[in-house]
Parts: sequence; structure tokens; C-alpha cells
Amino acid sequence: MQSKLVTAALLGALAASPALAAPKDDAALAGFKGSFRDKNEATVERLEQSEAQRLCTQDGQKPLKPAQRKKIEAQATAAVVYPADGNYLGDWKEGEKIAQSGRGMQSSDPKGTAAGGNCYACHQLDKKEIAFGNIGPSLHNYGKLRGGPTPEMLKYTWAKVYNSHAFQACSVMPRFGAAGILTEKQLKDVMSLLLAPESPVNQ
Ligand code: HEC
Repeated sequence: MQSKLVTAALLGALAASPALAAPKDDAALAGFKGSFRDKNEATVERLEQSEAQRLCTQDGQKPLKPAQRKKIEAQATAAVVYPADGNYLGDWKEGEKIAQSGRGMQSSDPKGTAAGGNCYACHQLDKKEIAFGNIGPSLHNYGKLRGGPTPEMLKYTWAKVYNSHAFQACSVMPRFGAAGILTEKQLKDVMSLLLAPESPVNQ
């Protein structure tokens, strides 16, 4: 549990921390990149920042201008891929396993390991789980507080989990759909965990 929390914190930090922002001169950047190697599920191409990450970690960490933030959010929103069959919900029990799992995309994961979402590393979900991080807001009662799985909530929640930058330009939450971390089926299972009335999140 502990190492899972640490990993997620590091992943978040890599995306947005001033201290870990990519070095600015080309030689330093090349040296930085050259010190990494592909190993199992961890691949060097992940050092390439998306345009949004680049803007959010630029020199001096100056807050982005409102127009820049809006542009990043609009681009992220436009690129969200909604479920092909129009059905947003899966199995909350599988969703809970995904939320608990910090596996995937690490050098210790053999190729083909299914990734987890590691949601507990940053969020409270089921109130019976006592090990959770607080980088993100508590999601306990997420569905209940928002009136359940209405069409608007389904769409908003899917887009947020698919690409967190859609609503928060410089979010540190992983882009679970856009970055290919979770499959469409896994996203549906996590949606049920958040929104199904019978899910422990809403008890
Ligand atoms: C590295 C930390 C981190 C991880 C891991 C993470 N989140 Fe988040 N999440 C955040 C932060 C921070 C926010 C607050 C908004 C923002 O900055 O994007 C957030 C916001 C959200 C929201 C919007 C809440 C609202 O009130 O509208 C949802 C839904 C959500 N996360 C779901 C998830 C799910 C599901 C997972 C796992 C699949 C997950 N998050 C994993 C950090 C994280």
C-alpha cells in the first residue's frame, strides 16, 4: 500500500512539479533522457511531454493565462472518446479492484501487465478503506452528492477520468483514457464504482 501511494505521488509530481520539470537547455535534456532505458512496461517515450504538460511546466512555473488554460481544456475535451456503445457503466466490483491497483506501466511490470488506476493513492472512495491519499478531493458519496448517473454526470465523469486536463488545464491526475492507461472496459468499471447507487462509494 505504502509503495503504491509513493508511486502515484511521484507520477503526479513528474507531471507538474517545478523541481522535476524537464531541464531547459538541450544538452541537459539529452543527458536527462539518455539516463533512462526502456524496461518492461516502462518506456522512454513517456518522457515526451504532451503540449499541455509542456506549457504547465514551463520556465518559472508562471501560472498560465486564462486563454491558454481555456485552449488546453477545449483541446482535451474535443479529443475525449466516449464509449462506442453509448453505455457508460460496467461492474463496480471490478472498478474497486482497478481503483486499488497501482500496477502497470512500471519497470517491474512484465510486458502486457494490465494497468490499475491507483485512484486511492490520491482520493478517498469507499469509506471503509483507511489507506488513501489526499492529493485529490474525497470521492466518497460522489454519485449520491451529484444526483446519481444522470446523462450529464455520466458525460462529465467519463471526460474527467478520460482526460483530467479537460476541466483543469494543469491537472496532476493521470489521463486514464487519453494516455492509454485504462481500457474502455476498465473505465466503465471505474464509472460504476463512482456512480452506481449500490457501489460502496455511495454508501
Ligand atoms: C496523482 C493523483 C490522482 C490520481 C492517481 C487520481 N486522481 Fe482523480 N483527481 C486528482 C485531483 C488533483 C483532482 C482535482 C481536480 C484536478 O486537479 O484535476 C481529481 C479530480 C477527480 C474527479 C473530479 C471530482 C469532482 O468533484 O468533480 C474525479 C471524478 C476523479 N478525480 C476520479 C479519479 C479516478 C476514478 C481515479 C482512478 C482511476 C483517479 N481520479 C486518480 C488527482 C488524482
